[in-house]
Amino acid sequence: MSRERAEELNRQWSGISPEEVLRLAAETFGIEGIAFSTSLGVEDQLITDLLHRQGLDLPLFTLDTGRLPQETYDLLDETRRRYGVRIEVLFPEASSVERMVSQHGPNLFYESIDKRKECCRVRKIEPLKRKLSKLDAWICGLRREQSVTRVGIGVVEWDESFGLFKISPLVDASEAEVWEYVRAHGVPYNRLHDRSYPSIGCAPCTRAVEPGEDVRAGRWWWEQAEHRECGLHRHQEQ
Ligand code: ADX
Ligand code: SF4
Repeated sequence: MSRERAEELNRQWSGISPEEVLRLAAETFGIEGIAFSTSLGVEDQLITDLLHRQGLDLPLFTLDTGRLPQETYDLLDETRRRYGVRIEVLFPEASSVERMVSQHGPNLFYESIDKRKECCRVRKIEPLKRKLSKLDAWICGLRREQSVTRVGIGVVEWDESFGLFKISPLVDASEAEVWEYVRAHGVPYNRLHDRSYPSIGCAPCTRAVEPGEDVRAGRWWWEQAEHRECGLHRHQEQ
């Protein structure tokens, strides 16, 4: 039933503007039922700006893995100040991190895909799961163009992994369109984007990209492209 409802909403909301998707999402799920998950990446900053501009007072949250770059923390502060918003910061369970790092060391992610996924599970997925279990829908900044793993996503989907609706208002946006908006509206963005980091995650798992490389080439760069997801966004077809 939820899957059918998601397909119906997806048909209705496909092709409409991101502003309108956000407005409809707020109206459909109410501020108690929905929240925006921001990584403070450029797409997410655009969404924060749109929410603010439209006076949509939806809750915002971010996952602090404990391994984010300083530039991301700086932007978190700047965003809080600029928009006067409260951003809920979710941390991993301290005991889980302690156990993992004591057993495998601080840099386990470079050792194998399994260990990398375990680190993402402890630092991102578990905190996200706790948060999403209280919601009916979540908003994120995914774009189809970002990766081979994202070409099939819809503006509304039933998120099987977490059991709620998932809304991606920027699904059709190009990278150029995102930057055009951000520059035109003076939206604050991560300084790393100016240093050839189109996609930013944890510091040890993100590097700059070379000219011509795809936007996610710097994420978990030592792995094959089809593995480069942390489990936050597992599309049905994967
Ligand atoms: S990831 O899965 O590879 O880390 P990506 O960085 O492309 O994801 O971000 C896609 C979307 O996932 C973001 O627009 C945001 O909605 C959500 N997201 C990713 N990382 C975080 C984070 N640390 N905190 C909150 N939301 C996040
Ligand atoms: Fe751990 Fe890297 Fe995943 Fe961050 S991106 S949670 S440091 S494996």
